[in-house]
Amino acid sequence: MACLLKRPASGAALDTPLTVNGVALINHQHGVSKNFTPKVSTTFRLIAEADAAYAAYAAMVKDAKRAGLTIVWRVGYRSYATQKALSANPPPQYGDDGDSYVAPPGHSEHQAGLAVDVGSPSGRGVSFPKTKEFAWLRANSYKDGFVLRYPAGKTEITGYHYEPWHYRYIGPDAAAAFGPTSTLTLEEYLGGP
Ligand code: DAL
Ligand code: ZN
Repeated sequence: MACLLKRPASGAALDTPLTVNGVALINHQHGVSKNFTPKVSTTFRLIAEADAAYAAYAAMVKDAKRAGLTIVWRVGYRSYATQKALSANPPPQYGDDGDSYVAPPGHSEHQAGLAVDVGSPSGRGVSFPKTKEFAWLRANSYKDGFVLRYPAGKTEITGYHYEPWHYRYIGPDAAAAFGPTSTLTLEEYLGGP
């Protein structure tokens, strides 16, 4: 299936992300330029300054550990250049549907250091939903300010297929509005694309 949300026609490529009610919105419509290069942590590659993404992720991993679970970090920050290369050559498992799994350069939350791709020792990618770690994250991630960014059945809104591995930090206050096992999208929460 081709990407449902077309490449941005009017989304400005800003040097910092568009922020709505304190939450950065990066999607097909709203991009960032290659000049946006946030400083990210060495561990987990998430924003550590002026935003609590790194600390919140570290806390979430610890919370899961206390429950006997191991969240495996796979990807945090990706530069504009890395996203450009990935977008030009999406992972082969996506076939002709790479555009619906990989954001164009300047349109990935990974460039903001606010998104993390995770897995479990017992499954990753499309197998991740079968794991206890996935179930735990769905029930608890909002408490640490993370939400499942590309839920199943919301492709027409997000432009992306279900990505059970991609969690986005929006902060605990905003994430409280999502709650456990939410399928709300950031676009719906913020009231439009
Ligand atoms: N996989 C998400 C959409 C990204 O490339 O940022
Ligand atoms: Zn991701």
